[in-house]
Amino acid sequence: MKFLIISDLDNTWVGNDAATIRLQKKLQAERDRFYLVYATGRSFASAVNLMREFWLTTGEPLLAPDCFITGVGSEIYHQGILDYDWAAKISQNWNRSAILPITQAYPQLLPQPESELNPWKISFCLSKSVNSAILDDLKQDLMRNHLAANVVFSSGRDVDILPPGVDKGTAALYIREKFQIPLERTLMCGDSGNDLSLYQHSTLGVIVHNAQPELLSWYQQQANPHIYYAPSSYADGILDAIAHFGLIRD
Ligand code: GLC
Ligand code: MG
Repeated sequence: MKFLIISDLDNTWVGNDAATIRLQKKLQAERDRFYLVYATGRSFASAVNLMREFWLTTGEPLLAPDCFITGVGSEIYHQGILDYDWAAKISQNWNRSAILPITQAYPQLLPQPESELNPWKISFCLSKSVNSAILDDLKQDLMRNHLAANVVFSSGRDVDILPPGVDKGTAALYIREKFQIPLERTLMCGDSGNDLSLYQHSTLGVIVHNAQPELLSWYQQQANPHIYYAPSSYADGILDAIAHFGLIRD
């Protein structure tokens, strides 16, 4: 029975080139024994660009995934093609054009580049000096206007507004069901706020050592033996978890 790795890219799978290469070396020999999914906040184009940059700087390819979850779960790509079933599912109860003007009442929210937006994702940066409590005001504003949305805060800076119920975790659940991999054979890997939802579906999970405070403070309130805070950082933390959970037996 294959296992499934669903991993964030920035500061998890990548971030320390030597660690990524160590992890990939271990996994390469077992490539037919697992499915690999990259789950990133980046757009698909930006994720592909990251893969090219990795090859240009290290001379090693990033492992080819079986599919991509991009834009924090707002899009899923199989062989470079958008998953239209997912798109149709998340389009229900999502009114992007009504949400946009509400966000404009918050000048503290600085728009991200157009290339990071898509029909199911509106993204901003919050400047460091602004209290993230304004996100509670934004959520209340959306609620008052009967606009359902999921607001995700990451790295103490990024704000993503997604359709209700959409995040990396629900996209990962959809993929896990498609691939029919049991919970105890599925490993989620991440480092920041937009990865939190990955750990909420009863699978195995690893939080790499270099994780962001917003994810660590959530972790500290959990007592779940299936979520492992790795002693090592970046991709070495994923290696720790593969050994810890016995996913590959030598
Ligand atoms: C990536 C995306 C950005 C998003 C952030 C956090 O950096 O490019 O749009 O806000 O992840 O999810
Ligand atoms: Mg990350």
